[in-house]
Amino acid sequence: METVILFGSPHRDGNTIQIVNALSDGLKQKGYNVRMLYLNDLNIRPCQGCYACIPKGTCKINDDMKDIRKYMIDSDLIVYATPVYWYGPSGQLKLAMDRGISFLDNEYSSRLKGKKVVTLMTCAEDNTDTFQPALDMFKKTFDLLGLEYAGSVEAPGCVVGKKIKKEFIQKVKKLAKAI
Ligand SMILES: Cc1cc2nc3c(=O)[nH]c(=O)nc-3n(C[C@H](O)[C@H](O)[C@H](O)COP(=O)(O)O)c2cc1C
Repeated sequence: METVILFGSPHRDGNTIQIVNALSDGLKQKGYNVRMLYLNDLNIRPCQGCYACIPKGTCKINDDMKDIRKYMIDSDLIVYATPVYWYGPSGQLKLAMDRGISFLDNEYSSRLKGKKVVTLMTCAEDNTDTFQPALDMFKKTFDLLGLEYAGSVEAPGCVVGKKIKKEFIQKVKKLAKAI
């Protein structure tokens, strides 16, 4: 099983990476191939809304989204991982999501149809409501893209420079087993 992680945090040693690593380790133990994409380090231009991609799935912009797109097409499982930025995903992840319009064809059928998807999020507030707008956005997006939402873990109350609470790591390990 091929997995690609769209990692939307700019921090390789921050909060979100901790739950991402727990999922990645759990999946590797099950024999999955896991590819991590540090979106912050990639060149992803904003979608220009020209719809030139719709007929063939080829975007006019020549940047790293070409490879990201290929890895997503080649994967069985796609992981969207992000800190909450103003009640939504980070800009790094949102740029990649917008460019994902190229996964739709003329009939609004999805070139990603049938793949599984998981979301992982962290935030600072000690309140799970904080995740709701992003969760709603993910669900509607995945419905349109024909992706099967296979689970999510949200870790609130994250403090910069501190370890994520064990309960969230446990939740992620459980999710990795269940997928
Ligand atoms: C631009 C920005 C916006 C943020 N917006 C929110 C927010 O709306 N709610 C919240 O609880 N935390 C917010 N945070 C805090 C981060 O979600 C939190 O610190 C997260 O765990 C950081 O993950 P990271 O270490 O992987 O980058 C924000 C942080 C930044 C930098």
